[in-house]
Order: sequence, then C-alpha cells, then structure tokens
Amino acid sequence: MENKKFYVTTPIYYPSANFHIGHCYTTIIADAIARYKKQNGYDTFFITGSDEHGLKIEKKAKEAGVTPKEYVDRIIENAKDLWKSLGIEYDKFIRTTDEEHVATVQKIFKKLYDQGDIYKGEYSGLYCTPCESFWTESQLVDGKCPDCGRDVEEAHEEAYFFKLSNYADRLVEHIESHPEFIQPTSRKNEMINNFIKPGLEDLCVSRTSFKWGVPVDFDSNHVVYVWVDALSNYISALGYLSDNDELFKKFWPADLHIVGKEIVRFHTIIWPIMLMALDLPLPKQVFGHGWLVIDGGKISKSSGNYKDPREYIEAYGKDAVRYFALREVPFGNDGNFSEIALINRTNADLANVLGNLVNRTIAMNKKYFNNVVVKSDKSTEFDEELISETLKTKEIVDKYMDELKVPEAIDAIMEIFRRCNKYIDETTPWLLAKDESRHDELKTVIYNLLESIRIGAILLRPFLPDTSEEIFRQLNTQKTSLESVKEFGGLSLGTVLNDPEPIFKRIENKEE
Ligand code: ME8
Ligand code: MG
Repeated sequence: MENKKFYVTTPIYYPSANFHIGHCYTTIIADAIARYKKQNGYDTFFITGSDEHGLKIEKKAKEAGVTPKEYVDRIIENAKDLWKSLGIEYDKFIRTTDEEHVATVQKIFKKLYDQGDIYKGEYSGLYCTPCESFWTESQLVDGKCPDCGRDVEEAHEEAYFFKLSNYADRLVEHIESHPEFIQPTSRKNEMINNFIKPGLEDLCVSRTSFKWGVPVDFDSNHVVYVWVDALSNYISALGYLSDNDELFKKFWPADLHIVGKEIVRFHTIIWPIMLMALDLPLPKQVFGHGWLVIDGGKISKSSGNYKDPREYIEAYGKDAVRYFALREVPFGNDGNFSEIALINRTNADLANVLGNLVNRTIAMNKKYFNNVVVKSDKSTEFDEELISETLKTKEIVDKYMDELKVPEAIDAIMEIFRRCNKYIDETTPWLLAKDESRHDELKTVIYNLLESIRIGAILLRPFLPDTSEEIFRQLNTQKTSLESVKEFGGLSLGTVLNDPEPIFKRIENKEE
C-alpha cells in the first residue's frame, strides 16, 4: 500500500503577549489543512512553535528584571492558550529553547563550519550603542536608530558567515524544475529575479554583541544568529541528529511550509541552501500567504491596530473566527480584516445559510415525524439534482485542496447547504404536510435534506470541527466517516434526532 504521509508547518512565532488575528490566520489554515489530510487517510504531522532567542527578548527580560528564559516561559503560555481557544490541534509545539533543538542547531552549525560553508569574518554595520543593535542603511529612520532615534555609527564585530552563493546555481535549477516549490508563482519570480540572480551575499550567522541565543560550542563568544537557529526547527522538531530520529525518517521532507509573504525569502533561499549543504532533501512546497490588513496596513504588534483575538472568539465563537480566516480571503492574497467583515461573513454564510438550514430541517423533522428519521419510495422532481450535487462535492473539494484553494473548497461545501435551501423552496414541505396524499413525498424531502446536511457536515469537519460535531449530535448519528459521503443514504432510518438547537444565530450588526 502507498505510504501516505503529510508534514505541515507554520512559522515559529516570536513570543508575545499580544498575538493578533493575523497570527491566527496562518495557524488556522495550517490546522485545517492538517485535519483535512488526516481525514483523507494521511499519516499527518503538524507543528507550530516559538522563536525565542535574540536581542529583543534579552532586552525585554532585562527590563522585566528576569532571565530571558524566565521571560519566555511566562509568555509562551499565551500562544498555547490562544491556539487552544481556536481548536488548533498541533502534534508538536517546538521551542527554540528546547534542549534537543539547541543541540541540533549546534551540530548543524559545526557541520557547516567543518565542511567550509561557514567561515569566520567580520560584520560591519551601523551600530546604536545604547540599544546595542546593528542596523542596515535601509532600516534607519531619518538616518537615526529606528528604535530610540539616536545617532548610529559604523562598527565592526567578529562574526561567522554562511557562503550562500556556493549553492545559488543549484537552487535556481531546483526552483525552475519544481514549479510547485514556491507558491503562489508570483513569489517564485520575485525570489529568482530580485534576490538570487543579482547575487547572494554571504549571510551573517553569529553574533558576539548579545548572549541570548544558541552558543556556538566551538567558539564560546558567539551565539547563532536568527535564521540558522529558527529554520532548523522544522527538522529538530523531528529529532534530526538526535538519538531518536524516527519521526525525521518518516516525515522529512516537509510537504508544506506555510509562511507569511515577508518570510518567503528566508524559506526559499536560506533554508533550501542549508538543506543542500546538509545533504538533505528539500521541502516539497513553501506557500507564502498574504497579510490580513486593516485600512491597507498590516495588522501588527507594533502598530497596535488590533484586539486580542479571544475577544472575537468569545463574542462570536471559535468557528466564526476560523471560518473568516479560511473563507474570506483568496489564499495567497492580502485581505481586509474588520469586526464588521467578520460579523457580515458569519451572518451571511453561517447563520443565514448553514444555521438556518440545519435548524429548520431538524425542526420540520420534529414537527412532522416526531424526531424520527423516515423515508419513502416516492420521489420528487427535484431530488436527483440535490443528490448528485451533494455527491460530487467531495471531488470538487479535493481538487481545490490539492491547489490549496481553501476558500474555494469551503465554498463548494457551502454550495450543498445553499442547494438544500433552494430544494426547500422548490419542494415546499409545509404544503406537502397539509396534503395527506403527499406525505410520502414529504418523507423523501426531509430525508434528503437531513442526509445532505450529514454529508456536508462531514466535509466541513476539518474546517469547522465544533460545528460539525454539533450537527452530528443533533442528527444523533455515528455515520461520520469520510467513506460514508460516497453514497447517499448513510443516515439510518429510525434514528431519533435530538431536538433542534440553533447552531449560529444572526449577530446584530450595531452599525446597521
Ligand atoms: O516571522 N496577517 O515570526 P513572527 C497574516 N519568528 N499573517 C501575519 C500577520 C498578518 N497581519 N502578522 C504576522 C517570524 N503574520 C519568525 C519566523 S520561521 C522559521 C521564523 C504571520 O511572529 C507572519 O507572516 O513575526 C509569519 O508567517 C507569522 O505570523 C509569524 O510571524
Ligand atoms: Mg514578523
């Protein structure tokens, strides 16, 4: 049998007490993709984590009067709590302060040094003494330090460098011959033309001006700087170069790295070059998604234009927030976020289409058949179209998910529910109920609705797990396997449904 495995990652996040909806965006999508693959029989491994080293953390810890490790330990719980509140089911949460990660990074650094890919040199930059930070010309604001606004001066520091250019030709060759490697395609052209072709500069991979990082074990003044530490998480999380590398053997190479567009560059240039230098296979795909923006600007910690996402979750529900992230924005593009947009999206699709359908169908079944699932041989002229549309949906969803067109996949599922609502208009069950001679048709209509809802809920499960669970509960069915969407008729006769309860209520839009 074919060994179906799927390894998917989010970036590791800088630890923060102020995560916003933009951070949730990446994680919700990765979670939905992982759940989808799992549902489709893949042995799936999904990781997220935190990127905990560096000067910024060192400084914040100092301000707070604690050690950097104490500082990150304190705020790391914020991420875990947020992911929990969104129903994120990761298989591993990797921290760059994990002992195993640190050991792996040290081994990687040493190997690259021993084989001549990393050499010792001198870093030159513009230095802000009070901030103890190096800046590049372009980072300066009005020629001054972007953090404190004071003067900077040219300074030098001993550092190790990674000679990326050794691998540039091989990288271009790989990117050109694997069109799926960088997605969307527009980002691929940008990488080649703007960054690789003009020539890759040697990458500074160590620092001596701060201490909070993975120590270079053969040169104790240095700590590993940023990307070699951070990117290695994707393989250290699997036990690469550790005593137990079973996961690594099973899951590497990654099938999908999902990253924001501003870090595509690191994931499609530095990371593959590191892997080539380590003689490891490259990830199959790096997908660079767009940003959630507010009034055209990226939602970010520094601009302060955000609310704690838990406020939205509390007000509108976990699945409303998941739905917005998954459905609103074409994957790869930037998308506008606002509370009104969240409310409108929830009302339009989850309350008006899905919630309304499920509620009135189960209520009709209660009213006409006392909650018992019944059926008859008598058909109506509208059945065939409903049934065939419902049954072909899985194939459409699969086609879209293969291209990571998540909003389109979800919309295909919503189409079942929209079709059901139309079927209700066409068959007018309330009129059938009034006419004794048409009760067999009524049975057929209500059964077809319940069965289409069951199939839709199974397909919806990776995206809105709680909503699906609640629909299964009201349908009182255990027929929830993906296998069971292939044939119409899985909902057993005689099943006694639970009483209808609204799954999504219309949210009042205060601005309307
Ligand atoms: O970049 N909309 O961490 P990070 C969409 N530690 N996505 C957003 C967003 C927004 N408004 N704001 C942030 C790092 N993100 C590194 C990664 S990986 C080896 C190291 C996304 O906390 C952003 O695009 O700054 C990125 O993918 C993720 O949040 C983490 O960002
Ligand atoms: Mg960032």
